Amino acid sequence: MSQSSPRILITGASGQIGTELLKLLGLRYGPENVLAADIQPLLQDPNAVESPFEILDVTDAGRVEDLVRRRGVDTVYHLAAVLSASGEKDPLKAWNVNIQGTVNILEAARKAGPARVFIPSSIAAFGPETPRLRTPQETVLRPTTIYGVTKVAGELLAEYYVGRFGLDVRGCRFPGIISHETPPGGGTTDYAVAIFYEAVRTGRYVCFLREDSRLPMMYMPDCLKSITDLMAADFSRLRHHADFNIAAMSFTPAELAAEIRKHIPGFTVEYKPDFRQAIADSWPESIDDSAAREEWGWRPDYDLGAMTADMIGVLSRRRAEGRL
Ligand code: SER
Repeated sequence: MSQSSPRILITGASGQIGTELLKLLGLRYGPENVLAADIQPLLQDPNAVESPFEILDVTDAGRVEDLVRRRGVDTVYHLAAVLSASGEKDPLKAWNVNIQGTVNILEAARKAGPARVFIPSSIAAFGPETPRLRTPQETVLRPTTIYGVTKVAGELLAEYYVGRFGLDVRGCRFPGIISHETPPGGGTTDYAVAIFYEAVRTGRYVCFLREDSRLPMMYMPDCLKSITDLMAADFSRLRHHADFNIAAMSFTPAELAAEIRKHIPGFTVEYKPDFRQAIADSWPESIDDSAAREEWGWRPDYDLGAMTADMIGVLSRRRAEGRL
């Protein structure tokens, strides 16, 4: 790799988005230039990952700073977070990991020369008073989950570091992310991943949301594209920074089940809503992403049909090979 390759740190590298971003950036910049860090080891076969890996608790400011300094990190993808459903089970942990972790990353980045930072926000930044249809970029941010509270605070912190220190911080408000490599953990939108695994494995699924709960969602290739496209944008031309609305598709569990049935005709779903229903009810149904489209050319590739066909194809092949 050339001398000019970025020196990247990915926190939360063992997670749903982290594992796939690690692979993508490793291919693009050379695995030796991408340091993977997480509080738990990579779930994948460690021999299949050529990037260096370190155990990291992002709430440990000294460790974060040491890692960024020692490795000469100039770009951080800060994905470590406690998601919405897990957050309600342990709100203080969510606060510590999401807020203290973010402060530690921003401080380490500021002192490091500085380093550029990507920090995802979420549709969880919105709340029951936010307009639920085509939620605007600028709107009411009064979430009722601790995860949402930390995401709003994270957006504001990021903007503060941009304004006060001139730090390059960017991020999107991700919807539910659907993927087939590493399962999501502790989110309210996780049903939209689990439903595919159960459809292919058993042909039946018990859904923890009501059949008519419409939520914004996105397929992993679009999620990765949004991260790399936003990071490639000319920073001086961005009017927003770490709070971009982005959208790809919105659907209900019933609509997703109907789409899956086009591939697996006998697929059945039973609905048993639990505490996650109240979280889903507090979030938007669809998102206006015109700021992202205008400022850095955001455009998704996958809709419900294309995503479903791809997910079923990948998981069916895996099952046929005895790996699912
Ligand atoms: N997928 C996340 C969650 O459900 C939303 O950002 O918590």
